[in-house]
Amino acid sequence: MSGSGRVRVAFVGKGGAGKSTIAGTFARLLGRAGRSVLAIDSDPLPGLPYSLGVAVDDRPIPDDAVTEGPPGGPRWVLAPHLDPEALIRRHGRVCPDGVRYLQFGNLRGHVAALQKAQHAWSQTVSELDRHRWDVVGDLPGGTRQPMFGWAKYAEVVCVVVEPTAKSLHTARRLLTLSKSRWAPQTVAVVASKVRGPDDAELIGSRLGAEVLAAVPHSDPVLAGDRRGAAPLDADPEGDFAKAVGVLVERVLSLYPAAAKERS
Ligand SMILES: Nc1ncnc2c1ncn2[C@@H]1O[C@H](COP(=O)(O)OP(=O)(O)OP(=O)(O)O)[C@@H](O)[C@H]1O
Ligand SMILES: [Mg+2]
Repeated sequence: MSGSGRVRVAFVGKGGAGKSTIAGTFARLLGRAGRSVLAIDSDPLPGLPYSLGVAVDDRPIPDDAVTEGPPGGPRWVLAPHLDPEALIRRHGRVCPDGVRYLQFGNLRGHVAALQKAQHAWSQTVSELDRHRWDVVGDLPGGTRQPMFGWAKYAEVVCVVVEPTAKSLHTARRLLTLSKSRWAPQTVAVVASKVRGPDDAELIGSRLGAEVLAAVPHSDPVLAGDRRGAAPLDADPEGDFAKAVGVLVERVLSLYPAAAKERS
């Protein structure tokens, strides 16, 4: 792991597995522990605001954030008046527990219209101050973005898996892909919506991998979602929040410098 003690984690998995619900809660719990957290969403249909507890904002990073890149370089680069930290200050939303949230854009006609926002987002994520930010990333469901290396910023990739055949199938592919395509330092399995220890065991044995943390199915979290409340606001002390807290501890323990900072 990087010696900075800053956490860089991404959540991948099948559509609907619980990535955004876990990632947003994870980001807030890190923020609550006094850390500077940037939550990043590379899903054009953002999922993180719901679990971070902020309203969805459909405005993309504006086009004037970038200018044409140098010959042979990227098509668009951050405009001279913006560096990654300035972009985060200007366009990163402030969320509960002090988390900053950055999303590249949303529906604005054809997907090509988001290219500039996407370049601004990518450059910011790869060049931000690594000594300052914990980065918590949420990817769209499935294998497409992971295939194209959209989680390269992450040292720890959490594959979120429900105890269902299709979720396990997707997880198996993602485990192979992440190891072969962009090789993060740690690929961890996170069991999601489990209804008992058997479910977590089933996931571990079917994937032939250790389960880093098991997050239970939670009726209060689901009820909160129905009224638009983030898990930590709907059920702050519940089993879901506790399990994500355990996941945070386990991920932090992978970072010796972060552990030293806490002691
Ligand atoms: N532990 C849980 N207990 C109960 N419901 C949950 C739990 N985790 C997630 N859900 C519910 O499952 C649904 C999908 O969750 P979420 O949006 O987090 O999945 P996702 O993996 O991010 O999906 P997508 O691939 O579409 O982005 C939501 O309605 C959410 O409230
Ligand atoms: Mg999601």
